[in-house]
Amino acid sequence: MPDTTVNFSFLHRTCTLVLLLCFLHIFVTVLYYVRSLDSRPTFVQNPQQTLQIQRKLKEEVSVVTEELKTSPTVKYRNVTEKALEKCPDPSRLLVGALRVEFSSPVSLELVRKENPALQEGGRYKPKDCVALQKVAIIIPFRKRDEHLKFWLYYLHPILQRQQLDYGIYVINQEGDETFNRAKLLNAGYAEALKEYDYECFVFSDVDLIPMDDRNTYKCFSQPRHLSVSMDKFGFRLPYNQYFGGVSSMSKEQFLKINGFPNNYWGWGGEDDDIYNRLSSKGMSISRPNGAIGKCRMIRHDRDRQNEPNPQRFDRIAHTRDTMNKDGINTLSYSVVRVEKDQLFTKITVDIGKPPK
Ligand code: BGC
Repeated sequence: MPDTTVNFSFLHRTCTLVLLLCFLHIFVTVLYYVRSLDSRPTFVQNPQQTLQIQRKLKEEVSVVTEELKTSPTVKYRNVTEKALEKCPDPSRLLVGALRVEFSSPVSLELVRKENPALQEGGRYKPKDCVALQKVAIIIPFRKRDEHLKFWLYYLHPILQRQQLDYGIYVINQEGDETFNRAKLLNAGYAEALKEYDYECFVFSDVDLIPMDDRNTYKCFSQPRHLSVSMDKFGFRLPYNQYFGGVSSMSKEQFLKINGFPNNYWGWGGEDDDIYNRLSSKGMSISRPNGAIGKCRMIRHDRDRQNEPNPQRFDRIAHTRDTMNKDGINTLSYSVVRVEKDQLFTKITVDIGKPPK
């Protein structure tokens, strides 16, 4: 017969042990639970308080978010995070040859409406890429409002397609003294630089319109002559050294020749003097080809107070001797008025009069 007493006592001990283990397990579980209750924040136990704190937190978060949005460092981070690439050269927006004609007049309202991306002062820069150059376009001016309208009408869309970071500066000669194109260009250079860190300067007559948008109004490794085939000259250069109409120069190139002469009063010669300055400094002229460099001139009678300058031949013969004594280093003028339009900045300057 089996020994049931021994079996029963073994079973009893085993059960007791299991029971004890169970109690221990329950005890440990309860202990952990209680401790975890202690370490939870008190507000969790109070629904009223919880709501209040949540509301406060929400307010604080929205204040901080607003501050972050307007903080310059965050703005800077956003910009650099989305760092723009350089615009392609040449721009992919170019269309090539253009139809240019002046039979029906245009209004400034129309030009403003057609160029909504312009900033005050005739400033523009591409939104989706970094422009290859910062270009100031300088237009010597006096009483040519009709021409200026055509110029703005044609040029603004072209310059935007060329993806330049540009500004238009109309430099208006005050008074009725003899016109001085080169001195106005010098003043335009100086005035534009007061506004923005321009690296390239395009000097354009107000009556010249390019007929191809591949003729980019920017600077090159050598000074650039842009109006190379004008209708007025049968779409060819009048002579090899011709540098009139529209030209461009980097700041460095401009300073190397001491800017432009200030003493050419009346029509002619100042562009030849500029050519002489460039060649005396060992620079050559860069040009687009004849097809891309085509441009039209708006026909007009000769301006009053801009008669051919009889001294021009003598002056041109002495550029090398005079260029260091007459230029941007001796420029003197005063600003009479600055007017900002959506399409241009007009700066009226008093540049004095020719010496008697
Ligand atoms: C004058 C220049 C002018 C050119 C073309 C030259 O005789 O000196 O100033 O641009 O003719 O008309």
